Amino acid sequence: MSERKGPRRYFYRLAPPTGYHELARLEFQALTGDSAPEAPPWAEREEPSTVPRIAWARVGAGVQRSAYVAECCRLLARAEDFGGLLKVATKLHLGVERFRVRVHKMRGIDAPGSNDIQRMVADVIDGRPDLDRPAAEMVVIAEPGQWLLGELVSRTARGWAGHEQRPHQYSAALPPRLARALVNLVAPPGDRLLDPCCGVGTVLVEAAAIGVRAVGCDINRRLVEHAAANLCHHGLEAELTTGDGREVRGRFDGAVLDLPYGYASRRIEGVYRGLVARAVEVARLVAVVTVDDVSELLTRLGAEIIGTAAVMKGHLVRRVHWARGPGGDREGRARTWSCGSVSRTARDAPS
Ligand SMILES: C[S@@+](CC[C@H](N)C(=O)[O-])C[C@H]1O[C@@H](n2cnc3c(N)ncnc32)[C@H](O)[C@@H]1O
Repeated sequence: MSERKGPRRYFYRLAPPTGYHELARLEFQALTGDSAPEAPPWAEREEPSTVPRIAWARVGAGVQRSAYVAECCRLLARAEDFGGLLKVATKLHLGVERFRVRVHKMRGIDAPGSNDIQRMVADVIDGRPDLDRPAAEMVVIAEPGQWLLGELVSRTARGWAGHEQRPHQYSAALPPRLARALVNLVAPPGDRLLDPCCGVGTVLVEAAAIGVRAVGCDINRRLVEHAAANLCHHGLEAELTTGDGREVRGRFDGAVLDLPYGYASRRIEGVYRGLVARAVEVARLVAVVTVDDVSELLTRLGAEIIGTAAVMKGHLVRRVHWARGPGGDREGRARTWSCGSVSRTARDAPS
């Protein structure tokens, strides 16, 4: 990604669970085009106070669809301590008709209580506090050595929350929040996304929920039926086929490939290679999830690695590879499955 120019006037609060900071960094980069600070090595990262929570960008991007980026604010004032922040904020002569103040203090910060901070910040703003229907939301963030005051631009809608509730679960399924982040790496709303190993459709649900045109395939017909039922459960649609992901045709803006595991030592040589090769061939951007490091394979296939992240899934460490592929140019053949016709199309689907 080419280096962008200009001052970073927007700060973002990252809120990944423990062990997901690397993926949050990639999601931040996908949403804003800028890079977020790195976390310390894995062991230290387990201690939440060591993980950077603030990232800066040149643009104020919408983060409604994000998994790990909690909010985006336009910077108004910055200081080393709360007293300094109040002084800077006072000089700004801020005027907002109806506003609300929210406070995020990182752990271990020596500071007044949140209610006192809210009150003192509200006192330097010309306007009327309105907790229920504010026209603007002011955000104060305190972390060691840095206090920030900003105006909220956007906040995550936590759209993945509740997607765990679905008719069909599956031990190999991704958590919806992780699936949402993977979608965000490869496809903004309006784009066309392929999941060639869709399982019970976790990625498809997250894609369709934010307006990405989702196309799924799985070699297991029963799982494709389950994916269709899960999509219907949430009132969402995707194109689905039963078949081998190595034979998918079409051209896609992005692909999320959550590789099957449990194939032991021969996995890279056989099915894995074919699935990765096809994903890279047909999609402009790919997010490959696997227990192995497939960076070398991706590079050999002509893909350019944008970033990698290790994430925890249960006790398993899995790797996310985010890469730009050479793209594809074949016509798609996927069929549309719509709610109400699931069982019929399931029987009709080619195996
Ligand atoms: C790790 S699971 C994917 C889980 C999925 N992301 C979810 O959340 O439900 C891998 C899937 O790959 C499928 N699979 C294995 N070999 C395949 C192939 N050659 N083509 C398509 N799907 C395949 C399996 O049936 C399995 O559902």
